[in-house]
Amino acid sequence: MGIEDLHINRDRLLRRLDALAEIGAIDGGGVCRLALTEEDRLGRDQVTAWMRELGMAVSVDRIGNVVGVRAGRRPGPPVMTGSHIDTVRTGGRYDGTLGVLAGLEVIEVLNERNLETEHPLAVAYFTNEEGSRFAPDMMGSLVYVGGMSVEEARATRGIDDSTVGECLDAIGYAGEADCGAPSVHAFVELHIEQGPILEQKGVTIGAVEQVQGISWTEFTVAGVSNHAGTTPMPLRHDAGYAAAAIACEVRNLAMRIGGNQVGTAGALTIAPNLVNVVANRATLTVDLRNTEEERLQRAEAELAAFVDQLAKNEGVEITSRRLARFQPVEFDAGIVDRVERAARDLGLSVRRMPSGAGHDAQMLARVCPAGMVFVPSADGISHNVREYTEPDHLEAGANVLLRVLVDLAQQPVGGG
Ligand code: GLV
Ligand code: MN
Ligand code: MN
Repeated sequence: MGIEDLHINRDRLLRRLDALAEIGAIDGGGVCRLALTEEDRLGRDQVTAWMRELGMAVSVDRIGNVVGVRAGRRPGPPVMTGSHIDTVRTGGRYDGTLGVLAGLEVIEVLNERNLETEHPLAVAYFTNEEGSRFAPDMMGSLVYVGGMSVEEARATRGIDDSTVGECLDAIGYAGEADCGAPSVHAFVELHIEQGPILEQKGVTIGAVEQVQGISWTEFTVAGVSNHAGTTPMPLRHDAGYAAAAIACEVRNLAMRIGGNQVGTAGALTIAPNLVNVVANRATLTVDLRNTEEERLQRAEAELAAFVDQLAKNEGVEITSRRLARFQPVEFDAGIVDRVERAARDLGLSVRRMPSGAGHDAQMLARVCPAGMVFVPSADGISHNVREYTEPDHLEAGANVLLRVLVDLAQQPVGGG
């Protein structure tokens, strides 16, 4: 039987997606499984049970990454796929989950057909990909590739002041496996695009060539509270105004730099948060991204200069804390070719494209040839309960993943 006879079972994939979406379900069809919460634990238990049902050897590492391995004809590093099952607080049901469950579907197809691959195959889900509770994002895969120590990751404090270590222990997912084991022969991740390009172009598959650089900063503004009615404007040290000015500048500088530059002021707190009191404290997060490192650095520098000047003009103190910083990543040319070829062989339209979102594959790219498959997101919406990808597109992406994984698991990688 040739690879052209292998297809995933769409209903089974959809059933698993539906079942996982029930864990942490929120109004509007979305999901809240913030990293290392009780909902995350329940989701992990479900996915781990599915891995075991499929006969995979499951290991949990010290930062809670879970890897299921299906043996190959010879031992050695597996060809790995996977993603994450944590979500943002207002998440959809496909972000991350699709990549993990499509991986399990690939394993089930091979099991049903009794097919052996040369290299082992692995499906992983990595801890805290989203980073919205604990920064940085892609934390588990970053630790997996040695970019952060387990100790540093465990000590990270989240938005609710708890640490990664405490929460990992509490949900029972601080495992014993060494982070980074097994080493990986090649990594391919299926993910929803989370942007509008594929849908706008009427294309089904994205062969992802690169991931844009990410810069996250938290600013804290210390001002002076005073009476909103009696304090003349020139005498104010208004933390609320300063935070708002930074938020506006983030928008302005992204427009000024243009091209792929994006900028978001996504989280804001203000104190004492009362109608008639000048605010004495504000915190604000800034997310800057660009596919070009030089432009990203320019955005960071322009924002820093703006913040310095603002602090002087308003007489407030502004401190900053880096939450995440990752340079743009290029995926392996050979894997991008394989994704494109697999899509064409399946009769699917395909285009090469960058990723605007961060992904575990960008971390794995530090240690092995890596790449990604994208499928369209309806209306380009993600990190929103309305996130949606048509079943035909889910199926198409999973079939491309199946082909690329089997192709890689039979052959040496590299060179296209
Ligand atoms: C995380 O996945 C992000 O891109 O924000
Ligand atoms: Mn994701
Ligand atoms: Mn996400």
